Amino acid sequence: MTDFDTVDYFTDPSLVPDPHPYFDHLRGKCPIVKEPNYGVLAITGYEEAAVVLKDTDTFSSCIAVAGPFPPLPFTPEGDDITEQIAAHRSQMPMFEHMVTMDPPDHTNARSLLNRLLTPRRLKENEDFMWRLADECLDDFVANGSCEFLSAYAKPFSLLVIADMLGVPEQDHEEFRIVLGSPRPGAIVGSLDHTDLVGLNPLEWLDEKFVGYLEDRRANPRDDVLTALATANYPDGSVPPVLEVARSATFLFAAGQETTTKLLSASMKVLGDRPDVQQALRDDRSRIPVFVEESLRMDAPVKSQFRLAKKNTTVGDLDVPAGTTLMVCPGAVNRDPGRFENPHEFDLDRKNVREHIAFGRGVHSCPGGPLARVEGRVSIERILDRMADITIDEDKHGPAGDRNYTYEPTFILRGLTEINIRFTPVS
Ligand code: HEM
Repeated sequence: MTDFDTVDYFTDPSLVPDPHPYFDHLRGKCPIVKEPNYGVLAITGYEEAAVVLKDTDTFSSCIAVAGPFPPLPFTPEGDDITEQIAAHRSQMPMFEHMVTMDPPDHTNARSLLNRLLTPRRLKENEDFMWRLADECLDDFVANGSCEFLSAYAKPFSLLVIADMLGVPEQDHEEFRIVLGSPRPGAIVGSLDHTDLVGLNPLEWLDEKFVGYLEDRRANPRDDVLTALATANYPDGSVPPVLEVARSATFLFAAGQETTTKLLSASMKVLGDRPDVQQALRDDRSRIPVFVEESLRMDAPVKSQFRLAKKNTTVGDLDVPAGTTLMVCPGAVNRDPGRFENPHEFDLDRKNVREHIAFGRGVHSCPGGPLARVEGRVSIERILDRMADITIDEDKHGPAGDRNYTYEPTFILRGLTEINIRFTPVS
């Protein structure tokens, strides 16, 4: 039996399959409570999470991604460490990406996305998604079974972002290879497969996008990459190409794995809950709520971090400058103070959209609208083209005694695989 009072949340594999008993234990003590191993303040309460995520004056995102790892490159001193953070920022993980920035740098980096995530662009991207969903399904649906992450969720979520960014379709296969989702049976030799595999995907993406953007600055066209290449900061200044490229490439890091996890969690519900699957087949208008409830129940981002810049309080708790805070969206989304019967998957949940799977405040996920449409389009086409979806019992065991494995990380929550069977619909 795991001792929840001493367990190391960050490394103990016993918390990976189902972290919720641990989260409930923490919340039962206090919705913001110090975990014993690293002194991190774990936040499992809805109100406390909102306070922290919305207050960028007091809480810095400089450690947003990995929290206490590695430890801070400085020893916090005094009751305001704003200057220490500024002096050491470039030694902290992912400092060059917007998720770790604070205003005003964050405001600048994020403004570049405004050119991209416009209603018109989202509509065009949705048109692409309907076509893409069918293309991905065409690759395997006749088999009547698949491992859903590799067959559908990964390539689909990757290519949606590629399209959103205006990556030319002839380059899509190259993106699939480098980012780890090659088409099954594809002949990749002509694409220098051996040169592409094993590259650092983020570095490769930066280079690729610097190339696209320099080309579009020199030779503007009527396309998305040109819009991105010619976007200015809010004060009218022209951003360096590498900074625009990073705003673009970070979308792959932020949007692919997370959406893959949403799609696979949704598929698990369809397979494990024939009643829910049937309810969606009977009434497709319930799909958007189904997607929200999947996000609430299995938030793909399991923990996001902030560093207290100044001495402050959250609730009744004193929080000294230099304290690491960990907001756990999965736990917050099951706060019984906010969500009735929080551990139940409920297609009729009235306040489901209050979940914080996409975060809160200035860093809240700009890809949320996209991910929601990805979920809706995928479920629609999956229900159209696969009848009687069930979990593969040879791989995951019988109903009531399933084996699922989740990625062993404290940052994200997602299945490593999900094998399903179904009847192809012709
Ligand atoms: C189900 C899918 C997704 C989930 C659950 C999710 C979740 C999140 C969360 C919780 C944050 C906030 C991090 C923080 O405050 O520290 C975030 C930020 C971000 N997400 Fe998503 N995301 C998803 C999909 C996407 C997609 C599809 C894209 C892009 C196409 C995207 C792009 C981003 C970016 C760029 C940020 C950083 C925003 C900022 O720092 O201002 N995400 N996401």
